[in-house]
Formats: sequence, structure tokens, C-alpha cells
Amino acid sequence: MATGKSTVGALVAQAAGRPFIDLDRAIESETGSSIENLFAIRGEAAFRALERACLERTLSEAQRAARAPVIAVGGGALMARDLRLRALDECVVVTLEGTPAELTRRALRQGTRPLLSGPNPEQRVSELLALRAPNYAEAQARISCEAALETVVAQVREVWSRDELAVAAAEASYAVQTGLGFASGRVGALVAQSPVCVLVSDKTVSALHAAPIEAALHACGARLLRVDLEPGEAHKNIASVEGIWHAALEGGADRQATFVALGGGVVSDMTGFAAASWMRGVRWVSIPTTLLSMVDASVGGKTGVDLATAKNAVGAFWQPSGVLCDVHYLNTEPARGFISGLAEVVKTALIGDPELFTLLENNVERVAARDGDLTAELVRRSVRVKARIVSFDQRESGLRAVLNLGHTVGHALEAQAGYSALSHGEAVSLGLVAALRLGETLGHTPRDLSERTLSLLRRLGLPTNLAAQPLAEASALLGHDKKRAGSSVKFVFARGLGQVETQSIALSELRTRVLTLAE
Ligand SMILES: NC(=O)c1ccc[n+]([C@@H]2O[C@H](COP(=O)([O-])OP(=O)(O)OC[C@H]3O[C@@H](n4cnc5c(N)ncnc54)[C@H](O)[C@@H]3O)[C@@H](O)[C@H]2O)c1
Ligand SMILES: [Zn+2]
Repeated sequence: MATGKSTVGALVAQAAGRPFIDLDRAIESETGSSIENLFAIRGEAAFRALERACLERTLSEAQRAARAPVIAVGGGALMARDLRLRALDECVVVTLEGTPAELTRRALRQGTRPLLSGPNPEQRVSELLALRAPNYAEAQARISCEAALETVVAQVREVWSRDELAVAAAEASYAVQTGLGFASGRVGALVAQSPVCVLVSDKTVSALHAAPIEAALHACGARLLRVDLEPGEAHKNIASVEGIWHAALEGGADRQATFVALGGGVVSDMTGFAAASWMRGVRWVSIPTTLLSMVDASVGGKTGVDLATAKNAVGAFWQPSGVLCDVHYLNTEPARGFISGLAEVVKTALIGDPELFTLLENNVERVAARDGDLTAELVRRSVRVKARIVSFDQRESGLRAVLNLGHTVGHALEAQAGYSALSHGEAVSLGLVAALRLGETLGHTPRDLSERTLSLLRRLGLPTNLAAQPLAEASALLGHDKKRAGSSVKFVFARGLGQVETQSIALSELRTRVLTLAE
């Protein structure tokens, strides 16, 4: 309210040569009545229903438009979470914010405001802002409206040009940026205001890629603490995290410190966990350097370490403040790791992005050559699907289960192979084959979908042959799956491209059926 959204929106649209839609004006012209009247006569609930219908229509039209418009929406319009998540998925959402005193001053100057008619408008604004803060935080960016108008417009345009994906997690929301060769130019802005930065990497990645990030962090004036962990899953344990804590302690990292993870999923899981637990939680920024960590570990806020043989047994949900997926790093990723990461991309395409699937099918050679623009698009699309799912289900209460496609049998095969003979992605590839074949047998999965996926996995260099002996041993391990509920398992089946469904299946039946899948 009174943040100047209509003025800012119109100027942004003008500068970008795009159409401008002011939702309030659209509602007024549609109903032939002013917002104040609609509020007064029909009441807030009826107004919100009108507003919702109008915004839904506007979003649908924007999707089809040749030149997407700039849309100014009132503070109440995005209060419904489903609508807000839709806007976040389809648009770049910028929240304009201001202090209660300034917003009240502006609102009163502009005349009557239906929500401010009580005796103490500033207190009312304060209350409303506090109530809505978790919702307003779910945006690609939050910008103060109190700067000069040109500055606000420039800042909005800057956010728009970055084209980030937002992961909605109330006040812990953050944006994932994807591109080629941009991370060292962006990291400074994400750690601004931190007197101390703890840069965590592993020795392999550090030797290849730490210098430009280190220089960028130095340039923003923060005191820089460095931790280079031993590389690999074998070191994903509490002793390594203790190493990070000690560096933080010795370097005087306080609550204002930011931890920065530069590395694969092992580094980011541990850095995130160290940040979650240091001083009961400090900010952290993730700069993933493997395909798997970009498409999977970068979204969802899961952090942690292994305990003896129990993978990820100790951990916490702790969202990063920002993620920079710079596909430039992937040029040095060993081939096996990169190809393994592609299994998760195929999985993600099956779950929620048919275009991603055909993009892979039509460009296998360019994918293998790690073409920068194409890889960035694969990462972006994968992150988008995961962000969409995770935003609806931050704590894994149900919907997130679809991300487990291919993982029920995949995890069992990975464990059967002692977590060494098969990489996670290779196991997921075989797990996808198992899930598709099982889906065929049970009438959930069309045969041509299985064939297409198998062919794609094979062309990408992933394993697809389910051999009898490992499968037999893995079937005995199926009960160890975390997603087990009593004597049955929630199994994810593929129904079509971008269409999955979860079905409960008895563990005993699953084991028997898995045995029949061997070739
Ligand atoms: N938090 C999550 O949601 C989530 C999701 C998926 C996986 N994970 C975790 O991620 C881990 C696996 O991730 P990973 O495959 O990235 O493992 P990793 O971090 O061990 O990296 C694999 C290897 O590649 C090296 N490496 C990384 N980036 C490189 C680069 N750009 N150039 C050259 N070498 C490079 C590393 O030093 C390491 O030896 C697992 O521990 C898994 O549990 C977490
Ligand atoms: Zn996985």
C-alpha cells in the first residue's frame, strides 16, 4: 500500500518497452466502481475474489502475450499462497517495501484508503505489515520504495534482468541464479554487510575455482576465513563440520557472519549444516560446482552429514540466502559426475517439464559437450521444477515425495553396490528404469514413455540394464528406504511426460515385483 507500485510499474514498463497493467485500475474499469466503493459496498472478501479472478486472467494472458507485461498488484492480491506461488513461477515478483511511518504518510496524503480508516493508521499499517511479512518475503527481490524513484525503477529492472528463480519459504525465501561465468561478480552482493565471511570448499574445487571468489569476497571488505575440506563423501561427517566451526571460532565469526559454500553437494550439505548450527544459525550462500548439486542440492534447504554408514543421518533444514549456479564450473567436473547429474535432470523432466525432456532428446551431443547456454537452460529448468515442488512443501510432508521418482529402487541399488560401484546418478538411472517398468506392469506407465526414457538415458551415457543379482540383493534392502510407511512404500510412478503419481505399494509385493524386472 502506498509504495508507489503503479508509478514504478509504469516507469519500468516504459523503460523496457512493455505493456503495463495496473490491477486495481483493471478491476475498476471492469466493475465500473472504485476500489474504495467495492470495499465499502461488497466487503473485503468479495473484493478479494474479484481481485483474484482478475489477476488469474491477467497472468494467463501474460503467458500467451508476445511481450510480457509489467503488472502492478496491490498488497492483498498475492496473499493467497497458491496464487503467489503461481506468480513466482511464471513472473519475476518484486516486493516494494517501506517503513510504516513512510507508508502511512504517503497513504494519508493520497486520500482515503479502505484499510486505514481506523483511529491509529500507522499502527494499523505496522500490524498489517507484520502479518503479511512472511508473504511479502516470497518474492525474487524486496526493494525499498523510499529511495529516489529512478533508483527504485533501476533496481527493479536489474532484478528483472537477472531472471532469477525464487524458492518460496516465507521469510527464509531466496533466489537461485543460473548463468555462465557470473558467480564471482555476484557473490559480493550476497554477502554484503557481513563483517566476516567463511568460505568453505574442498581441496579439488578450491585449487580450480576459489581464487576469483576469494578476490570478490576480499573486495567487499569482509574478513575472509578459508576452510578447504578433504574432497569426497567419505569426509562428509561431523569431524569436517567441526573443522568449519573451529575456523569460525578462531576467526571471530559472529551472528552477522556469512558462510559461503563453493563445491559439490558434499561441501554445500556440510557448509549449510555448519551455518545452521553456528550461533544457532547464520546466513549462508551456496555456489554449487557439480551438475548434481546445481539441479538437486541447491533447492530445498536440506543440510547435513553422514553418521557411520547412515547417509545424511544428522542434519537440519536451513535455507541459503542465495544460490549461484554458474555452469562455467561444470567444464572441469569429471565426466562421470556430470553424466550422473544428468540422471536427475531426466528425472526432473519426467516429473514436471516435458519441454526439458525434449530439449535433452534433441540435443544429446550438445549436452555431452557441456554447451554453456544449453547447460544453463537444463539447470534453470530443473531448478524451476524443484523450486515449484519444494515451495509447496517445505518440510517434506507429502508433495515432495514425487521427487523420489526412481529413488526407491535407486537407493537400494546404490546401497547394494556399497556406495562406490555405482554413483548416485547411475543408481537413479537404473531406479528410473525400474520405476518405469514397474509402472508398465501395474498399468500406470505407457510403454512408449518407458522406451523413450530408456533410450534417452542410454544416449546420455547412463546405465539402463537391470541385472538379476544386484537387483535380488537390492530388493532385500528396499525396506530401508526412508519413504517407507510401515509395511508399505510410497512409490512414484510416471504416467506421462511431466506427470507422476504416488501410490502405496506393499513392501512384500514391491520386493517380488522388483525381482521380475531383471533382463
Ligand atoms: N541437500 C540436498 O538436497 C542434496 C541433494 C542431492 C545430493 N546431495 C548430496 O550431495 C552429495 C553429492 O554431491 P556431488 O556429486 O556434487 O559430490 P561432491 O561434492 O563430493 O563432488 C564430487 C567430486 O567432484 C569434485 N568436484 C566438484 N566440483 C568440481 C568441479 N567443478 N571441477 C572438478 N571437480 C569437482 C569434488 O571435489 C568431489 O571429489 C551427496 O553427499 C548427497 O547426499 C544433497
Ligand atoms: Zn537423487
